[in-house]
Amino acid sequence: MGNEPEARHVDDAVKLETSGAQAGIRVSIVRIDSPPVNALGRAVRDGIVAAVKRARDDRDTQAIVLICAGRTFIAGADIREFGKPAQGATLPEVEAALEDSEKPVIAAIHGTALGGGLEVALACHYRVAVAAARLGLPEVKLGILPGAGGTQRLPRVVGVEKALEMMTSGEPISATEAHAQGLVDELVSGELEAGAVAFAARAASERWPLKKVRDQNGKLVAAKDQAELFLSWRKSVGKKSRGQPAPLQIVECVEAAVHMPFEEGLRFERRAFTELLASPESKAQRYYFFAEREATKVADVPSDTPRRKLAKVGVIGAGTMGGGIAMNFLNAGTPVVIVEQKQDALERGVSVIRKNYERTASKGKLTQAELEKRMALLTPTLALEAVADCDLVIEAVFESMAIKREVFGTLDQLCKPGAILATNTSYLDVNELAACTKRPADVIGLHFFSPANVMKLLEIVRGSATAKDVIATAMALGKTIGKNAVLVGVCRGFVGNRILAARRDQAQQLISEGAMPWDVDRVLEDFGMPMGPFAMGDLAGLDIGWDAQNSKGESVLRDKLCELGRRGQKTSAGYYTYDPKTRERSIDPVVEQLVRDFAKKSGQAERAVTDQEILERCLYAMVNEGAKIVEEGIAQRASDIDVVWVNGYGWPVYRGGPMFWADSVGLPKIVASIEGYEKQYGAAWKPAALLKKLAAEGKSFTR
Ligand code: CAA
Repeated sequence: MGNEPEARHVDDAVKLETSGAQAGIRVSIVRIDSPPVNALGRAVRDGIVAAVKRARDDRDTQAIVLICAGRTFIAGADIREFGKPAQGATLPEVEAALEDSEKPVIAAIHGTALGGGLEVALACHYRVAVAAARLGLPEVKLGILPGAGGTQRLPRVVGVEKALEMMTSGEPISATEAHAQGLVDELVSGELEAGAVAFAARAASERWPLKKVRDQNGKLVAAKDQAELFLSWRKSVGKKSRGQPAPLQIVECVEAAVHMPFEEGLRFERRAFTELLASPESKAQRYYFFAEREATKVADVPSDTPRRKLAKVGVIGAGTMGGGIAMNFLNAGTPVVIVEQKQDALERGVSVIRKNYERTASKGKLTQAELEKRMALLTPTLALEAVADCDLVIEAVFESMAIKREVFGTLDQLCKPGAILATNTSYLDVNELAACTKRPADVIGLHFFSPANVMKLLEIVRGSATAKDVIATAMALGKTIGKNAVLVGVCRGFVGNRILAARRDQAQQLISEGAMPWDVDRVLEDFGMPMGPFAMGDLAGLDIGWDAQNSKGESVLRDKLCELGRRGQKTSAGYYTYDPKTRERSIDPVVEQLVRDFAKKSGQAERAVTDQEILERCLYAMVNEGAKIVEEGIAQRASDIDVVWVNGYGWPVYRGGPMFWADSVGLPKIVASIEGYEKQYGAAWKPAALLKKLAAEGKSFTR
């Protein structure tokens, strides 16, 4: 009796149906229906085992189709179950039920077959898919590896190189490519279920062999004597995956697939999987997976809030930022009007867009026809009036309040009622801009990151009057153009740049106390950041925001470097010297001397600054600023800050983000250090009230 509700639940997630007879052959359908993505939670695993058993026991059934309801085939293991005690049927037991069936089992794939989903499909005898489906093993993105036979089965089907490529990148392939690789046996052009049933009926009536991937060793043979193959994969994967153990472990497992019998290979894979699952890197990456999805939710804007139509977009400014922003919409098939003040600037902007597309086309990632189609959606003009009928207008003009105020005043006059007026400002007060219009409810910040056509982050800045449907529309827009949108409030620099400024201040302070710019960069790069703050300054250009007329080279090191013509990578010299051809950076004794001179002038006694101090001061300052941001309600939740920093600033995902990282260090430890710095350096280091409170209560930001 006690088992009854459980049994009903199993039936809810997986149903067994019959398709009726196809040319005298009865096909049973195992239909998984577990929204949103048919993940392999306990109910689904138990349900598949039970349904397959019933189909196998059913005398009339001659073939079985495994298919999913809703938007996708199985999208993987249920990540929420990771780290919890195993219950019900295991994934290998599900696979055994399918693989050992004496009746052919056909996986029918639509949407995405990912992770455990693809592993389940690989345990079926055949796989059919619609052309739009995608198949992949993305576990590496969660800091783990395919733990249900994927590392052993995939190379047997697509070969060692392709399997390594798919598993170490985690990127899915299209069904068309999967078909060409032998991973999909047939592409179904019409309705998937009917196609899969017809395929299954053929398999049964023509008595096709029950193909078990585990027994197919043909594609492994070639790799047996190629020790260099794995050596070179180890090298290239090791270089790319700094700090992450999973990619290298995947190479080990595939090598095991080549050299060990199947069952032994499975055991090897399981050990590696279990080890990775417990690693701090995987914990951080799994946290981050959910953090990204959480960021799409806005507490007071329910998901059913009506959205405004965005059929036509205006972009003001055809510079680097405006052009990049426009490309996002062109890529999504939305017509864009792009406005500039001068003909030559307009032409330059349009030609940069075209060149970007040509570069993509030359890599084979875009056809010429698609390129022309996107360019045809673009209307370049000098007339601001042309944005009058746009549903959304984004200004990307020079970062000056006076200029932006003027633009907003004009847009208010020109734009149709209901149009969303957006600013791409990175620092300025969105409320002040909204106040230049008679429609502050329609004004919002859309802060893209450079290059705007590439970077995944979009900070959506909510003004005090921004309407809820405008917020809902902007958040949905993020998804349409493939960005990770994070809602933030108004303050200088919003979330990302405000925290960046806190780190920059510490970096500068550290070099006035005896650290060298390259020490600071090295410590942060060893931590996993793609670039330290000084190298980043050189890349961006040290003269951004520098005023030659009012340069303070006597007291400000950055100004001094600019005065010397050291304006960053573009002049082959900044904090570092750069090889003009390779852009390789090297330490310059001239800068070393300058740093020492400035440190002397600052009046602080020069001392040895340890790597540990560099790391703590740079990162604790970020954490403290992050805490203030949450406390002030600028970010909805601490995990949103992590999404901003991973997506926009290259914080290593395997460390979760600054707030998750702070939790893993321990908040009391951070508070103690910050209080020490406060005594030494004063109010700039005042600990955030929220940080102190959480530490005192034994709580954390993200767990
Ligand atoms: N487990 C649990 N929940 C999952 C999930 C999973 N594997 N995949 C997605 N979800 C949840 C999301 O958290 C989200 O929940 P909320 O609505 O409550 O926020 C919901 O499903 C919808 O997800 P998305 O917003 O991401 O939807 P989408 O349509 O944009 O994308 C998707 C769909 C492509 C499947 C995407 O969700 C995705 O990439 N999922 C993860 C796939 C993955 O990593 N699979 C491997 C899992 S590990 C594994 O399988 C290990 C093994 O070898 C045994």
